[in-house]
Amino acid sequence: MRHLLGLFILITILSFSCTTEDTNAWRGLEIPAHFPDPVFQVIVSEKGFELGRKLFYDPILSRDNTISCGSCHIQGSAFSHHGHDVSHGIDDRLGSRNAPAVQNMIWNSSFFWDGGVSHIDLISVSPIQNELEMDESFVNVIRKLNLKEDYRKLFKEVFGTDSVSGAYFLTAMSQFMSMLVTADSRYDRYVLGDATALDAVELEGKQLFEQKCASCHVGVLQSDFSFRNNGLKSEPFRDGGRYHVSLIESDKGKFKVPSLRNVAITAPYMHDGSLRTLESVLAHYALGVQKSSTLDPELEKNGVIGIPMSTEERTAIIRFLHTLTDDKFIRDPRFSEP
Ligand code: HEC
Ligand code: HEC
Repeated sequence: MRHLLGLFILITILSFSCTTEDTNAWRGLEIPAHFPDPVFQVIVSEKGFELGRKLFYDPILSRDNTISCGSCHIQGSAFSHHGHDVSHGIDDRLGSRNAPAVQNMIWNSSFFWDGGVSHIDLISVSPIQNELEMDESFVNVIRKLNLKEDYRKLFKEVFGTDSVSGAYFLTAMSQFMSMLVTADSRYDRYVLGDATALDAVELEGKQLFEQKCASCHVGVLQSDFSFRNNGLKSEPFRDGGRYHVSLIESDKGKFKVPSLRNVAITAPYMHDGSLRTLESVLAHYALGVQKSSTLDPELEKNGVIGIPMSTEERTAIIRFLHTLTDDKFIRDPRFSEP
């Protein structure tokens, strides 16, 4: 009897601790207390999010059903394509740009390196139709999804429709991407009041970063989401960047200032993936900035090109950049392939 009672208590304790520690439990979209208001208000339901998650990992979105969004945006590297300078798409075709991290999307005012997409709901159309990425027509994706009974059933459950529509497909994708919030790095813990979260060198790096980098990489998201030329190339630019969208001559060679969250695990760097390590990024800003007619004025102050930094200063900044890694985010079971 005592044994049975003990077993009963043990089971109760175990099932209790399981429910309280269940990281899979639905919590909805949470806006971190120390973040600004998001640019996009996306209403997320659990079923809508789960549908978006299934779609994100489903190669049915590509022409030959081999490539999913998750093939290039890998959770373990904060949904970037770690190790690939430019992305490898369908038939192993090479793109011309590096796949950025998909994280904290609702705080971005536009998407892609050139800001070519200005609404979160429209993101998925580009990779699907891009001939170097998924090379499929949007209409055909919707047709293929409609042929699948499980998808028809899921869309009915989430949106109450009898068929899969393009608009609801895009809404489901936004619901998944909106949930990809990363805000739990050591840096965040420091910002939220834990003075011990960063060591002395990291704190020195944070200060240097705020002096030397935060005119563009500003605030808790390390970006003002503007378009700027940080001096990777001089004219003629191989990739016109923002110019492709605005057709304004003075936008040539400008790209979206990226957030630096999880930057230690998203190498290689820059729109073209041309810098392989954080050491080479810092060496670029200190010694490698190229002069051109659209070079950002922040990188050409008082006739000095680039950002003067000693080797120690660069090391401290790199140490700080490592504190932006959010291990929970890259292991969060809610975001993995279902
Ligand atoms: C073949 C690799 C590949 C596939 C497949 C792919 N992407 Fe991308 N993704 C990229 C590249 C490369 C970029 C940068 C392109 C650019 O800026 O011109 C990008 C950019 C993005 C961005 C912009 C992020 C930002 O900071 O602005 C989002 C969001 C995104 N992709 C989501 C998706 C979704 C959703 C899918 C599936 C429908 C998808 N991607 C499929 C390679 C890929
Ligand atoms: C004048 C604005 C500006 C300043 C100042 C600046 N950056 Fe950048 N940074 C950018 C832009 C724009 C990009 C994207 C450029 C591209 O890909 O063509 C970028 C890209 C990066 C990247 C690559 C991120 C990725 O995901 O590929 C890192 C890392 C980075 N910057 C770190 C720093 C550090 C560290 C400093 C200070 C030493 C700094 N930046 C100063 C504008 C700036």
